[in-house]
Amino acid sequence: MKPMRVALMILLGLVIGVLGTTQVMSVLAARNPMPKAVMETMGYHMGALSHALKAKQCDPVKSQQHLQRMQSTATDIVPVFGIDEKAFTDKAGELQGHLQQAVQAAPTDCAALAAAVKPVGDTCKSCHQQYR
Ligand code: HEC
Repeated sequence: MKPMRVALMILLGLVIGVLGTTQVMSVLAARNPMPKAVMETMGYHMGALSHALKAKQCDPVKSQQHLQRMQSTATDIVPVFGIDEKAFTDKAGELQGHLQQAVQAAPTDCAALAAAVKPVGDTCKSCHQQYR
């Protein structure tokens, strides 16, 4: 083979390699459903609580279940997202703190539930403004 041809083959190999790598990476990203699953789970429980507040029917047992489910789900944010920026992990930690307080408060009526959920919702919002 002429040297020019060899150089072209090497170049072609490199291009195919790069294209293949980016394709594999985007497939891997699309196949990891966990970040969205964690968020959707928290969204579901947050939604249930805000429906309860709107309907003014705040069953203490149900409220506590939703808060506990959010508290345990929130502990998955950092390992699952794999974003190790301090601002991100701080927000995740802040959310866990507020959820722990909400669970400890164990709200027995809508007023108490609203007060417990407010700082939680604010933290969801502030992280979304920055990272979503
Ligand atoms: C530490 C940052 C952070 C916190 C705190 C956070 N989120 Fe998220 N959330 C994200 C990011 C980043 C995305 C975008 C995920 C994606 O598109 O893959 C997101 C997306 C979502 C989505 C959309 C999911 C989808 O399918 O695209 C919902 C629903 C959601 N969050 C709910 C919540 C709720 C409810 C809370 C509070 C209880 C919360 N999040 C707190 C970072 C956060």
